[in-house]
Amino acid sequence: MDEETQSGDENGRAGEDVDEGDVVESESSAADTTDGSESANSPKPTDGSGSDAQFDAGEQPLDVDDPSRNKGIEDPSRDDSDGGGESATSRGDSSQPESAEPVTAEDIDIEESIGPEDPDSIRVGDSTAGTTEVSLDEVVLDDDDGDSQGLFDDLLSGEPIFENKEVLRPSYTPRELPHRTEQINQMATILVSALRGETPSNILIYGKTGTGKTASAKFVSQELESTSKKYDVPCEVEYINCEVTDTQYRVLAQLANKFIEKNQDVIETELDELNELHPQAVDDPTALAGSAYETADEVESRIEELESDRDEMEPVPMTGWPTDRVYSTFFDAVDYRERVVVIMLDEIDKLVEKSGDDTLYNLSRMNSELDNSRISIMGISNDLKFTDFLDPRVKSSLGEEEIVFPPYDANQLRDILQHRANVAFKDDALTDDVIPLCAAFAAQEHGDARRALDLLRTAGELAERGQADTVEEAHVRQAQDKIELDRVVEVVRTLPTQSKIVLFATILLEKNGVRNVNTGEVFNIYKRLCEEIDADVLTQRRVTDLISELDMLGIVNAVVVSKGRYGRTKEISLSVPIDETEAVLLSDSRLGDIENAQPFVQARFDN
Ligand SMILES: Nc1ncnc2c1ncn2[C@@H]1O[C@H](COP(=O)(O)OP(=O)(O)OP(=O)(O)O)[C@@H](O)[C@H]1O
Ligand SMILES: [Mg+2]
Repeated sequence: MDEETQSGDENGRAGEDVDEGDVVESESSAADTTDGSESANSPKPTDGSGSDAQFDAGEQPLDVDDPSRNKGIEDPSRDDSDGGGESATSRGDSSQPESAEPVTAEDIDIEESIGPEDPDSIRVGDSTAGTTEVSLDEVVLDDDDGDSQGLFDDLLSGEPIFENKEVLRPSYTPRELPHRTEQINQMATILVSALRGETPSNILIYGKTGTGKTASAKFVSQELESTSKKYDVPCEVEYINCEVTDTQYRVLAQLANKFIEKNQDVIETELDELNELHPQAVDDPTALAGSAYETADEVESRIEELESDRDEMEPVPMTGWPTDRVYSTFFDAVDYRERVVVIMLDEIDKLVEKSGDDTLYNLSRMNSELDNSRISIMGISNDLKFTDFLDPRVKSSLGEEEIVFPPYDANQLRDILQHRANVAFKDDALTDDVIPLCAAFAAQEHGDARRALDLLRTAGELAERGQADTVEEAHVRQAQDKIELDRVVEVVRTLPTQSKIVLFATILLEKNGVRNVNTGEVFNIYKRLCEEIDADVLTQRRVTDLISELDMLGIVNAVVVSKGRYGRTKEISLSVPIDETEAVLLSDSRLGDIENAQPFVQARFDN
């Protein structure tokens, strides 16, 4: 398997090479194009003077106050542009030197290219009775009053909304975390032992998504490291996101390599000092006063020892070693020096889900074997039940201390948003209702600060796009719809094919006006769809399960209704926008094969 991955890597690299080649090639061709167009564009100042000359000649501009129209005519490169008016201005310049000269071939090109496709040019063309010369004169004249507006100028100039949008992105780590003081203090109280050279208890942090676990843990780890530097106590924190690093091999390899790197830094610093000290000690042994060495030979042998340590430290490759070897390399790297190490395993449930609890078992029993150092584990999870899958020994060791991050309520979310908004937005860019509304929406979604921040950012972006001066309540509502739709699209897109077919069957029934859709009806349509695209047909029982799953994901709403002596059935209705969902389903290449789905619905009445 490792080999496979390795060869995969090689392929990846080979692919990259090819890509690079491509890039170089395309760059060079792009450069060619630019050169080419620049040679036409380059005499920009001359264009200006050319236009003046024309204007002075007494011609009146026809569309002085309609730059867009001007752009339409003045763009000689329409044949190769994608029709965007944006590029018109800059490209338009290139026509002007030509216009001053009798280059009729160029003119013909222009006429042809702007001909029927461009309503603006047609209009202007009409007004000038289609004479090339006249329209070129207009170009030149009109250019006079709007030549500096490029594609981005307008967008750049009006920017009343954001001061610093990055502050609202998930990647930003805030320096202040309102309403998390209690949890942060709890962590600090436990971890302070590390600064006293003792081993802190292991900690498990729980809380639903967006409750500030990662942000708080990162904040605490920064504080811990900076304090350890301040007091010169050896304490290190390593953060690992187990959603990305999700196997024992990868976790141990990443940790091993980080510690090897740190050890090497320490070795290099000591070597620099000793290499300076050694020649001094050879000349004059009193140079050793105050050092840990009595003779120059001792210094020399320490230098040799350090050099051999350094050379022996071999980083772990990302694949290919037996796990035992990775573990012992990690172990040796940690134990190389005296120190306390805190290992933060964020999204620890993902690691357990993917590769069991071996990693945690190995990490949690290390302390009894380490000579110089101590490790402490801090696991973070939004899945409260993941410890059910752990070996009881691992569970009790890991959960020595537990800290819960409760969801935020609307007031707390309001504070959090307000703190960020002060930095993210320009003064007065938000109307009064915006933050409370974002907070209220997000509080409904289990008090998720990430969601609240997303809403605020999206509302700001929508306002910006609509060229509004302020963010209004309506933008927040639009943002809420947009985020919800994005979520639905993402969930539907990543459904397994069978669930997609079941959902598609439901959609077909609803679209054809079938009310109170029941499981049997969905199943009938489902069966036919499967036959149409050659998919396996599951049993009705399995399909019922898939419907329940769709219900749990919030895509459909399924309620059990009693049919008296006919037993009970589920009535199913869509909980998501029908057209968008259908479009997502049809974008799946397999479902896309379903042609003319309409007749299937008859199945209801056939059966
Ligand atoms: N108290 C707070 N103050 C300011 N920002 C916060 C606070 N709590 C959370 N945030 C912000 O909300 C977003 C989500 O927080 P975080 O990533 O810490 O959540 P989490 O609990 O780790 O969620 P998940 O379980 O999904 O990983 C981040 O952008 C974070 O900066
Ligand atoms: Mg997190």
